[in-house]
Amino acid sequence: MKHLAIIPGDGIGKEVIEAGLEVFDAVAEISTFDYDGELFDIGADRYLRTGELLTDEDIDGLRKKDAIFFGAIGDPKVRPGILEQGVLLKMRAVFDQYINMRPVTSWFPFVPLKREVPFNMTFLRENTEDFYMGAGGRFGPSFGGKNVSLKVKRELYELEVDMKADPSNDDDFAFEIGFLSKKGITRFADYACRFAMARGDDKITLVDKSNVITHMYGMQRDIFREKADQYGLELEFMFVDAMAMAMVVRPETFGTVAVPNLFGDILTDLGAQLQGGLGMGCSGNINPEGLSMFEPIHGSAPDIAGRGIANPIAAILAGQMLLEDQGYPGEGKLIHNAVTECLRENKTTPDLGGKMTTEQVGKAIADKIREGKSR
Ligand SMILES: NC(=O)c1ccc[n+]([C@@H]2O[C@H](COP(=O)([O-])OP(=O)(O)OC[C@H]3O[C@@H](n4cnc5c(N)ncnc54)[C@H](O)[C@@H]3O)[C@@H](O)[C@H]2O)c1
Repeated sequence: MKHLAIIPGDGIGKEVIEAGLEVFDAVAEISTFDYDGELFDIGADRYLRTGELLTDEDIDGLRKKDAIFFGAIGDPKVRPGILEQGVLLKMRAVFDQYINMRPVTSWFPFVPLKREVPFNMTFLRENTEDFYMGAGGRFGPSFGGKNVSLKVKRELYELEVDMKADPSNDDDFAFEIGFLSKKGITRFADYACRFAMARGDDKITLVDKSNVITHMYGMQRDIFREKADQYGLELEFMFVDAMAMAMVVRPETFGTVAVPNLFGDILTDLGAQLQGGLGMGCSGNINPEGLSMFEPIHGSAPDIAGRGIANPIAAILAGQMLLEDQGYPGEGKLIHNAVTECLRENKTTPDLGGKMTTEQVGKAIADKIREGKSR
C-alpha cells in the first residue's frame, strides 16, 4: 500500500488531479498497486483565507508519505511569485528534490516537427544549484557601499561569500552568481548514470556552455567523465545552443540528457512544445533517497479553469512517473499505453483538437486500463 499526498492546488490543478486519481483507481483495480490518498489543502484558497503557504504542519504531514501527486498552483487574486515561491520552490528545497525529471516523448500526431521520427528523451535537470541560488545583488552609488555579502543554504551545505567590489567608475552594478559543488554534481551524475542504465541507454548527453562558463561547467564535465567511466557509459557533450538546434533537427538521437538548472529550465520548455504542448508535459521533482513530487508542468490556467476543458494527460502521465518511481513500472506502462490509444482515437480535449471534457478524457483512459485493452 502506497501512502500518497494529494495536493490539487489551484485552478485546473483540481480538475486534472481528479482525472489522475480516476486513473490510479483503475490501475489499482486490475493490478497489485494499491494506494490511499490524503488530500492536502495547500494553495491560493487557503492562503487567501489564512495567509498560510507551506506550513510546518504541512511539511510534517507530507514527510510521512511515500510520494506527492501535485496539480498546479497560482491564482490571479494572489501577487505572482508568492504561491510559487512559498509553496512550490519551498517544497522542492525542504525535501531536497535535486533532480527535475521531464520526459519528452513524440506523441504523434501532436508533434509540430516536419519529420515524423519517433523520439523518447528524458531530461534530468539539476534542481538546486547553478544560477538559481538567489546569490546576487547590486552595488554602486544608488545602493550604497561596495561590499557584498552572500549567503546560500542548501541541504548539502551552507556557503558564505564576502566580496569587495572596486569599480573604476561610479556606475551601478548588478550580479548573479552560479555555484556548483562537487557533492552536488556527484550525486547528480550518479543519478543520471543509474537512470541511463535502467533505461537501457548506453550514452548520456551532458549539456552545458563550458566553452564560455569554464569553471563551473569544466568541473561538472570532470565529474561526469569519472562517473560515466565508472558505469561504463558513453558520455556525449553538447553546448546548450547547439542542443536547442539538435532537439529540433535530430531529437531521435538523444536518450538520457543531463542539464544544469538554468539551461534545463529553458530546454525543457522547448521539449514540452516538441511533444504537443503544455497539456502533455509531466515532471518529477525527485529525491531518490527521500520524498518526491510528481506534477504536470503547466500552471493553474485561470483562463480556462472551471470550464472542464483542461487536458488531464500531463497530470495522468505525471501519475505514470509516480508509479514507476514507486516500483510499479508495469503499471506505469498500462497508463502509457492507455494514453497512446486514446490519442490515436482522438479522445482528447479541445487543446488537442478533440471535443471531450477533462473528466471524459480521464474516464476514457481509466476505462482503457480497466478493459485491459492497453495490455
Ligand atoms: N507548477 C506550477 O504549479 C505552475 C507552473 C507554471 C505556472 N504556474 C502558475 O499558474 C498560473 C497561470 O500561469 P500561465 O498562464 O503562465 O501558465 P499555464 O500553464 O497555467 O497556462 C498557459 C496557457 O496554456 C494553457 N494550458 C495550460 N495547461 C493546459 C491544459 N492542461 N490543458 C489545456 N490548456 C492548458 C492555458 O489555458 C494558458 O492559455 C500563474 O499563477 C503561474 O505562476 C504554476
